[in-house]
Amino acid sequence: MTATQSMTRQGLLDAVAQIPREQVAILPTALEEAPRLRAALGPNAPRIFIKRDDLTGLAFGGNKVRHLEFRLADMKAKGCDALVVTNVAQSNHARLHTALAAKHGLTPYIIKIPSDKDDPINGNLLLDHIMGAQIIEAPDAEPDTISGMLEDLIKRLESEGRTVYNVPNDSFSKIAGSCGYLVGTVELLDQLDAVGATADHIYLASGTSSAGLALGGKALDAGYRVHPVSVGQARPQIEEYVCTVANGAAELIGLDTRLQPSDISVHDEYIGERYGVPTAAGLEALKLAGRTEGLILDPVYTAKAMSALIDHVRAGRIDREETVVFVHTGGLPITYAYASEIVASLQGSDGEGA
Ligand SMILES: Cc1ncc(COP(=O)(O)O)c(C=O)c1O
Repeated sequence: MTATQSMTRQGLLDAVAQIPREQVAILPTALEEAPRLRAALGPNAPRIFIKRDDLTGLAFGGNKVRHLEFRLADMKAKGCDALVVTNVAQSNHARLHTALAAKHGLTPYIIKIPSDKDDPINGNLLLDHIMGAQIIEAPDAEPDTISGMLEDLIKRLESEGRTVYNVPNDSFSKIAGSCGYLVGTVELLDQLDAVGATADHIYLASGTSSAGLALGGKALDAGYRVHPVSVGQARPQIEEYVCTVANGAAELIGLDTRLQPSDISVHDEYIGERYGVPTAAGLEALKLAGRTEGLILDPVYTAKAMSALIDHVRAGRIDREETVVFVHTGGLPITYAYASEIVASLQGSDGEGA
């Protein structure tokens, strides 16, 4: 699609409006400038805005609350009275699906994949317990084990007369996040207009949200580049995933635009050892955001994403005349489950203790 053919924001919203949606999130979320973070990054740092999608409202918020607006409507259309997710203890996804289920009278089931954050019960897992999740412990993290357990659980529940929403495998569920962030694209562009700014770059932890922002930006010819920062998988896998979910959403709502890997800049250099293990750069980003902006990042997603932005600014890969939006995708409860790693990093870095 060329610039002259790009669709209008209202056209994009109308296209998304074909898909049933229920209000769940408190929108719009704030767009805040981060001048002290910018100053801390040196004289050549760009203008930085934070899109506060950690403040979407449901059970400690996060980007996924936008996704849930579409998933809830789909669950209702399918007459579901239970939902199932398969996640680790510190999953934001599991916590927010549990919250949604609690609020709308469905029974939430979590097939819990073992991880080194199972014990003590803390962070997201604590919230899952508070909100009444039915937690089924998987014996190991093998994909075949988990998919077998998911299949068995759904069969059992269906035999008991339940109608179950299979969150990981439902075909609409897989692209609901991108639909949420097509709406989020328009919200962000309107807010940037209101402060007379134009985004050149958008940074966030990679996933369906980054897919929606990239597809929305391309369809609207918004002129920004999305930087999905991987927190676990290698770049080719992320590129394929982001384009697949974006294009699934485009097809569903009848957009002509399609996303290809060259449209996005996926970064996989900030993962560190593996998913769920904090990095020194991420912990430094967490501390810097906290101490310059009173902004809390989590060590698994948003701190690693911020460490990519910080590294790119310091390396001069972003011009000081440019404008960056960092989408804070939430994950705040995770912070508590990583208290020991965070405290050790604070003590090591400034010697003043936590
Ligand atoms: C805090 C946070 N940010 C980003 C993501 C990325 O995935 P998505 O955009 O599909 O939600 C996740 C997924 O678990 C997440 O929990």
